[in-house]
Amino acid sequence: MPSVEGNKSTWNQTYDWASAGDEWSSPWGGAETQWHATLLPRLRPFIPTGTICEIAPGYGRWTQYLLGQCDRYVGVDLASRCVDACRERFSSSDHASFEVNDGRSLPMLGADSVDFVFSFDSLVHVEADVIAAYLGELARVLAPDGIAWLHHSNLGQFDRELRRMEQAEAVARRVPVLRSPLTKLELIEWGHWRAESMTAARLVDMAADVKLACVGQEIVNWRGSRLIDCISVVARPGSVWDRPNKLVRNRNFVNEGASARSISAVFTSLMRRGSDSPAWPPLTGIDLT
Ligand SMILES: C[S@@+](CC[C@H](N)C(=O)[O-])C[C@H]1O[C@@H](n2cnc3c(N)ncnc32)[C@H](O)[C@@H]1O
Repeated sequence: MPSVEGNKSTWNQTYDWASAGDEWSSPWGGAETQWHATLLPRLRPFIPTGTICEIAPGYGRWTQYLLGQCDRYVGVDLASRCVDACRERFSSSDHASFEVNDGRSLPMLGADSVDFVFSFDSLVHVEADVIAAYLGELARVLAPDGIAWLHHSNLGQFDRELRRMEQAEAVARRVPVLRSPLTKLELIEWGHWRAESMTAARLVDMAADVKLACVGQEIVNWRGSRLIDCISVVARPGSVWDRPNKLVRNRNFVNEGASARSISAVFTSLMRRGSDSPAWPPLTGIDLT
């Protein structure tokens, strides 16, 4: 059950950040390919734009691409270690600022001031109370035609299976040799520290509670076969984005990563040949065999 305090200590202290988060892009063969093959097609309607706020940028895995898509960028993370790393990494970007927050609010942003709010691979680890708090803030900071693109947990849909996972986990603790086969069978270790209180449907209700409209949702699998994640887009009723919610269940998100990995191995891996100043950090996770 990830808490705000648990997130803060994990990302400030426990996690080593040796690869700046690029290690999480390994299933895609690297962040560069993940951005272009998976994120950009889902962001095309919204960028480039004026002001972008990224909630929870970590060490800037997506910031490096978002910076070129806006006039002003504000990155907000509850871990001061991440904010310090981003300030250093992007020190040459005059239109960017990075701020530490309390994990729930966006006091550094004025009312109606943000065109696009983005968060990927972070809010999956926060429970419903935190999502509700951020939605309340979005109701304040989104520009009249602003929109938010939020990757969050859908693990709450798997209530009964989570209880079965606890039982299987107890078995794996008693008989360690069973851990690997139980993991392969997706009987344990498939929750990936997602928030159990969040679902796609709950986000729709919480957005309505603060007078925002959820206008699109893609429920996706993550690492395994279960659809434990969701990407939701949220805007103001009556804005240019307003429409009845369009919801799809995509079981091919993991396959999309696997397909992107071959793009990465053959093509993305050639990108920085001959460049005198390789971008920081280097591409990682590309298996050329
Ligand atoms: C798994 S890392 C991902 C970072 C980045 N989005 C990426 O994809 O590389 C999770 C990040 O979320 C931040 N975080 C977790 N809970 C948060 C919250 N409630 N508010 C703001 N940041 C949070 C952590 O400090 C960390 O930087």
